[in-house]
Amino acid sequence: MRQASKKNRAPWVIALVCFGLSFCGDEGNQAAKLAPIQPNKTSELALAMRTLDSELVNLLAAHGEDGSWKKASLSALDLTELMPTDSSMLISGYTAFAAAFGKHVEAFNERPSAEAYSAVVNGCLSCHQQACPGPIERINKRKLNQTNL
Ligand code: HEC
Repeated sequence: MRQASKKNRAPWVIALVCFGLSFCGDEGNQAAKLAPIQPNKTSELALAMRTLDSELVNLLAAHGEDGSWKKASLSALDLTELMPTDSSMLISGYTAFAAAFGKHVEAFNERPSAEAYSAVVNGCLSCHQQACPGPIERINKRKLNQTNL
């Protein structure tokens, strides 16, 4: 009896996890709210985000641990030029966030350091808090945190 009731719960757990992952295009699963015409099509902006995200992962792995940021760099992408999945993501202030973010990346590429890296990650977070909260949890993991300092 006990085993049977455990089994019955599994589909619900799976459904909940899927719902959690479906928010804001994170993990490739488009939120129903956005109702894109082609549900699996990835926008230019989402692709750029994935590139930046994996660059952060690589930077953390290569430079975060030994504290040396020599030769570190990030792609300088103009986020205002890339199309998102849905125009509702282009919230007022988007251009300002994109420009501020671009400046942080520029500063990082000129003088890579832990501080400049953190400014970039904060730039990711500032825009996401307004435009697209889904990936915030993931971006938080890119912070140079306790374990890396
Ligand atoms: C100027 C605003 C802005 C900045 C800065 C920004 N993002 Fe995004 N990000 C967005 C928007 C809007 C989307 C949704 C794009 C879409 O679905 O078309 C997004 C989507 C994402 C996604 C989900 C992509 C997918 O697979 O669908 C990730 C992950 C992400 N961003 C990470 C980052 C990281 C890491 C940074 C910093 C290096 C960053 N973002 C900086 C606005 C921003």
